[in-house]
Amino acid sequence: MRILLLGSGGREHALAWKISQSPLCTQLFIAPGNAGTLLLGTNCPIGVTDFEAIAALCVAEQIDMVVVGPEEPLVKGIREFLTAYDGLGSLKIIGPGKEGAQLEGSKAFAKAFMERHAIPTARYKEFSASNYEEGVAYLQQHPLPIVLKADGLAAGKGVLICETLSEALQGFEAMIREARFGEAGKKVVVEQFLRGIEISVFVLTDGKQYVLLPEAKDYKRIGEGDRGLNTGGMGAVSPVPFVDAALWKKIEERVVVPTINGLQQDGIPYCGFVFIGFMIVAGEPFVIEYNCRMGDPETEVVIPRLTSDLVALLDAAASGTLSQTGLQIDPRTACTVVAVSGGYPEEYQKGHPIAGLDQQQDALIFHMGTARKDGQVVTSGGRVLAVTSFATSIAEAAAKSQRVQQQIQFKDKYWRTDIGYEFS
Ligand code: AMP
Ligand code: GLY
Repeated sequence: MRILLLGSGGREHALAWKISQSPLCTQLFIAPGNAGTLLLGTNCPIGVTDFEAIAALCVAEQIDMVVVGPEEPLVKGIREFLTAYDGLGSLKIIGPGKEGAQLEGSKAFAKAFMERHAIPTARYKEFSASNYEEGVAYLQQHPLPIVLKADGLAAGKGVLICETLSEALQGFEAMIREARFGEAGKKVVVEQFLRGIEISVFVLTDGKQYVLLPEAKDYKRIGEGDRGLNTGGMGAVSPVPFVDAALWKKIEERVVVPTINGLQQDGIPYCGFVFIGFMIVAGEPFVIEYNCRMGDPETEVVIPRLTSDLVALLDAAASGTLSQTGLQIDPRTACTVVAVSGGYPEEYQKGHPIAGLDQQQDALIFHMGTARKDGQVVTSGGRVLAVTSFATSIAEAAAKSQRVQQQIQFKDKYWRTDIGYEFS
């Protein structure tokens, strides 16, 4: 099979690493890719939302399967575009259509979906300019903290956790009246704050059958001890020690099955990944978000734990023949530690040479924001690389990844030294 993978982050490097190991993959293209994916296939300098160029590449290279890494092309309708393109009628596409991608693309859509299908989630109400005053009154009587979510895609920045009423009122005004999160963000979901532990669960589905990949826990804050600004993710572990069979059963029965059935009942075909973000509150699972793709850096721990052939699974999803029997998981613990450019998630510099990459044999190094320039690997993003290690415990896996991070250098490098701390 000739496969095109879209994206350029650590998630895509991990997917490319796994896809390229499959005997079913005869050739792999990555668009646009990074300095890591370059070693596993052919990087093509095409942006993930340049649908016309992607379609032309699929035709020219006789691509059999497109795997869509990030959410943006899905929300913008890449599936519909490619399916309708002359000569691409039989192309297999991993990633939902525009409607299914609304699970991530619209918080209001996702909340209404969960309500309709009785999927446990935080209580909420939806507001926009048309019921602004009602929204203000709602905020005034609501217990604190309270959560405000701008409706559209906001790269993780459209969520405000407000500790005070004035913060909530200001955020509400900024979203609706000042459109600070864009036009789509003028619709706001106001929801109950849930106190608990977050975990991520990944489902690969063909819209009817599904397989469950291992769960992961992501470390979103920039600072040690989970302090400071939110990031795309500074590290991840899988499995998560407190997720036992009883919790897994609740997750599957109360959320995964109703989600897949709900898509079917609503007449929404769905082929691809569903990433379900959970808050576990006193042992009970609540959904805080859906994403229509894999997570990053969660993919860097989940995919290395998959011992089955990923391409066979993706092919089964595309052909509607998925079954849990095809899934084998490495029982060991994986821990990934992300190195970022100094300043991230705010201003940072790019283009610094990275040293020490070649000597690392004891870990998997996934590039997140790198490029090749004048024969050298340089930084080209906020999150630069993720180091994944395996061990029998989180403490040991984390220590291994830490040791490897110490041997990789670039100017102003920063990473958290406490990934997995609460389980060590
Ligand atoms: P989301 O983009 O919906 O995942 O929200 C971003 C982050 O905000 C989540 O990863 C949580 O840490 C936090 N969050 C979102 N919704 C809630 C909620 N209802 N209660 C507590 N924290 C939340
Ligand atoms: N690590 C969180 C995400 O990919 O959305």
